Amino acid sequence: MPHTQKITAAITGVGAYFPETKLTNADLEKMVDTNDEWIRSRTGIEERRILSEPGKGTSDLAAPAILQLCERRGISPEEIDCIICATVTPDMVFPATANIISHKIGAKNAWGFDVEAACSGFLYSLTVGASLIESRRYKKVVVVGADKMSAIVDYTDRTTCILFGDAAAAVLLEPNTEGYGVLDSLLKSDGSGSAYLHMKAGGSLKPASAETVAAKEHFVFQDGQPVFKAAVKGMADVSAELLERNNLTGDDIAWLVPHQANKRIIDATANRMGLSPDKVMINIHRYGNTTAATIPLCLWDWKHDLNKGDNIVLAAFGGGFTWGATLVKWAY
Ligand code: UT7
Repeated sequence: MPHTQKITAAITGVGAYFPETKLTNADLEKMVDTNDEWIRSRTGIEERRILSEPGKGTSDLAAPAILQLCERRGISPEEIDCIICATVTPDMVFPATANIISHKIGAKNAWGFDVEAACSGFLYSLTVGASLIESRRYKKVVVVGADKMSAIVDYTDRTTCILFGDAAAAVLLEPNTEGYGVLDSLLKSDGSGSAYLHMKAGGSLKPASAETVAAKEHFVFQDGQPVFKAAVKGMADVSAELLERNNLTGDDIAWLVPHQANKRIIDATANRMGLSPDKVMINIHRYGNTTAATIPLCLWDWKHDLNKGDNIVLAAFGGGFTWGATLVKWAY
């Protein structure tokens, strides 16, 4: 294509994988002091999927999601140029899970890396992936959001164990000359938020020891209320700003695709954007919060409802703090 032609990164396919094992609110009632009513009304969650098979990690969620994506798009994994894996639950601290995924799916010609931006990981990765396409150097970039949250959740802590689930979902990015694809991204971060949502040990600051294990410091720690407050404001503000700077209103938007952490956060964002509930993708009741996987998992669940030319806004808020919103024109 001529060098003067503007290239955008179109999403040309989606794939997903979630384990069969379900963890319902009723199951959790037997594990911790909680109840179905509290969980539904405070979060919107009814059940989550858990990768319970021993010896399986996040790459075992991501690999089948990408293989499904390749099959749906009719390409071989060998055609993939790059795999970007958004995750906070890598198989190992190193090497990157993206490398392990490439090996498992036979993506012999791909390079790749992991992006760690918690619940905003998919948006950060999508933005980087789109830039690789726009650079004209790469033709097929896979962005996968994958998290085995059950590996880092303390199932004796009722404040966190009700929230999370395991899943992976992936999109393929390819060059487009007709203006479809990732059109704009507004991404933010504020490290002062790390105090409210983090894992205390296992990093270089506090390496794993018998003491850190005994103190349960290898699990998600969350101070829910400050995160909730920051999320309601952060996700709504950034989504509104994205619309404004693209001269769009809620009427121009076909779908809001929000990170699925809490139904109340999603409702606040939709309200602020002036969107009616029928334009908002919500599947939190079925999967809980799957961290980096929530947004592409929505795209997968709604794949038959998306139409070519639809303006969609992807929005997230999460650990870091990290947050952002991305405008996509659906390409098929
Ligand atoms: O995706 C990453 C970003 N994360 C988020 O966006 C999550 C943001 N935070 C939230 O979604 C909410 O803060 C939570 C869902 C985590 C908690 O909801 P909340 O309305 O903020 O509840 P709370 O923490 O203020 O707790 C209210 C009460 C407390 O009892 P007291 O002190 O009022 O007696 C908690 O101990 O609810 C109690 N509680 C529970 N009760 C039954 C906390 N967890 C549970 C539970 N079952 N699982």
